[in-house]
Amino acid sequence: MNSIVISFGGSVLISDDIDTTFFQNLTKLLKQLINEYKIYIIVGGGKTARIYIKLGRKLNFDEKTLDQFGIDITRVNARILTNLIEVSNEKIPSSTDEAKDINKKIVIMGGTTPGHSTDMVGAELAEKVSASKFIIATNVDGVYNKDPNKYQDAKQLKEISIEQLINDYGTEWGVAGKNIVIDGPALQIIKRAKIPTFVLNGKKLEDLKKAINNETFNGTIIKI
Ligand code: UTP
Repeated sequence: MNSIVISFGGSVLISDDIDTTFFQNLTKLLKQLINEYKIYIIVGGGKTARIYIKLGRKLNFDEKTLDQFGIDITRVNARILTNLIEVSNEKIPSSTDEAKDINKKIVIMGGTTPGHSTDMVGAELAEKVSASKFIIATNVDGVYNKDPNKYQDAKQLKEISIEQLINDYGTEWGVAGKNIVIDGPALQIIKRAKIPTFVLNGKKLEDLKKAINNETFNGTIIKI
């Protein structure tokens, strides 16, 4: 059975308006997908993680401690999904090795160690389970030529090469709570392991379904 790894930005799952319909629709989609795929989901920290990181930074906590706050929040967010989806793990794995060995139709986790975002956890897991696809489900429709949350004239890219992304964003991790489309350490793994990677809007479940089922979707294909 093919494995698919999906990295869900925390802001896709947890936003200011409580959207239970989204969770119901996501559960429905996952139930369909497990007939054909083994699914791994990594959940991000979103705005909640950034609030803790901001507070900790003002209190002069070191970067590692700030990352740890982020990791803890990603795991709380992951717990929403593990409770919702019966066919998933109960305990949140603390490493990709642990996740890889879980014998469930859907495996859900959050962050692992300081120094990267959950994108890197997704890429690492995708490499370990030889996933046929790695999907970055974020809060915009894909990769843009500039930040679409800041610039109205930002243009969505239908595809971009991994070399170009590395050229634009580098392969280093910056600081806790850094908000970029894909973090540098994740780019490095995608390149090394040649993982077919797609970036799309995680709120738009139809596009997620199409990307998984090899249909045309609205998003960005990363050329590897
Ligand atoms: P996220 O992966 O959620 O970061 O982790 P993000 O991409 O900025 O947020 P969303 O979810 O897409 O909106 C939040 C923070 O937790 C720490 C990092 O500081 C990260 O910025 N973190 C997370 C780690 O240090 N290690 C991990 O494995 C995961």
